[in-house]
Amino acid sequence: MKNIVLIGMMGSGKTAIGATLSEKLHRPFIDTDQIIEKREKKTIANIFELYGESYFRKLEEEVVKEISKYDNYIIATGGGIILHDENINYLKQNGDIIYLKNDIDELVNRLQVQKEQRPLISNGDLHSKISTLMKNRESLYEKSADWIIKNKDFNQTVNEILKLNLYEKQGD
Ligand code: S3P
Repeated sequence: MKNIVLIGMMGSGKTAIGATLSEKLHRPFIDTDQIIEKREKKTIANIFELYGESYFRKLEEEVVKEISKYDNYIIATGGGIILHDENINYLKQNGDIIYLKNDIDELVNRLQVQKEQRPLISNGDLHSKISTLMKNRESLYEKSADWIIKNKDFNQTVNEILKLNLYEKQGD
């Protein structure tokens, strides 16, 4: 069965939603950021600080190439995965891509407490950083997605994804 790939902005809940889908569907879960951190033995923030964003993006591309060969996985991606067309082309080879779409204000609220771990938004005004990122990325998320889910409430989002019927053979 094809992978389910979650894309969307930082703070959209890709990891938490992916982990819940994985439990409910008894399918394995991976998160591209977690793979990178494990391999490098460093946090994402440290990788950006030590080697810069372009180095991180190369690691991200390598991971995407590898995991695109997997089957039956729930995959949570980093928010910048859509910046390289190639990433999406790889992920689509064996994946259904779901965009978790949030309003800017919701993202700002959620990220207020988690911004330190996220180098692209850790300094400066959070609202304007998120607005700029959204402005540059929204069309990329939308054009990459097979499905777009309006992501307001955690349980509702999980249920909506389950209802997409990508999983009818997987039971509960
Ligand atoms: C990034 C999002 C982060 C992480 C890195 C860059 C981005 O992942 O990959 O900080 O460019 O939006 P999350 O979306 O899981 O926070």
